[in-house]
Amino acid sequence: MMRKSPIIALDFHSAEEAFTFLQPFNGDAFVKVGMQLFYKEGPGIVRQLKEQGYDVFLDLKLHDIPNTVKLSMEVLASHGADLVNVHAAGGKPMMEAALEGLDKGAPAGQKRPSIIAVTQLTSTDEAQMQREQLIPTSLADSVLHYAKLTKEAKLDGVVCSVLEAKAIREICGEDFLKVTPGIRLADSTSDDQKRIATPEVARLEGSTHIVVGRAITKANDPVAAYKMVNAQWEGLKE
Ligand code: C5P
Repeated sequence: MMRKSPIIALDFHSAEEAFTFLQPFNGDAFVKVGMQLFYKEGPGIVRQLKEQGYDVFLDLKLHDIPNTVKLSMEVLASHGADLVNVHAAGGKPMMEAALEGLDKGAPAGQKRPSIIAVTQLTSTDEAQMQREQLIPTSLADSVLHYAKLTKEAKLDGVVCSVLEAKAIREICGEDFLKVTPGIRLADSTSDDQKRIATPEVARLEGSTHIVVGRAITKANDPVAAYKMVNAQWEGLKE
């Protein structure tokens, strides 16, 4: 079972930087390895994190033809990540192929990684979606549509913003994962994220997991920032 604690986005230049940052956590955290770190360090970073006790979300957002995604997921499953993802925009056959690949590639006797689909990136707002993707609906409807498609493909959940979590819970259920980035503490900047919320709002709106990057990694005191995020997420006062 994956931890429910805030997922720390390890958006660092190197494994050395990431492990220096992680020292105070001592293996007790849920972390996210994105493209930057994975492309730099390769699969070894996932194995190392797992050996130290971390839960790992390997955030590579695959989006390609079904056969390529299936074969790639087969390889990714062998690295031992707990959670992986694709873009729902790749389509239902692609998502089904991803699942097939994971089932095939998971080491014998081990559960396959959970898999979620990105709906609309949290850096996209409605005007941009309509203008660039020519999707004439609201952003909320587009996200909900992708969530339903993801559920039909039998994936475990979606990446969405907090703003859409409640509607997705109503349609896709409690157990369907709603992993929400775009988390900011009340006083931090939004950087390039557009659909943002605090950890507390995320909990109240039905996120099952939150992903927090710069609000923790760029804080003056990252451990204190993590504790504050965690306390708000768990509903304790801090
Ligand atoms: O620093 P910040 O908290 O904005 O980091 C958010 C992390 O979540 C980044 O690693 C980003 O790639 C990732 N992410 C996202 N929106 C998605 C999926 C993943 O921001 N839809």
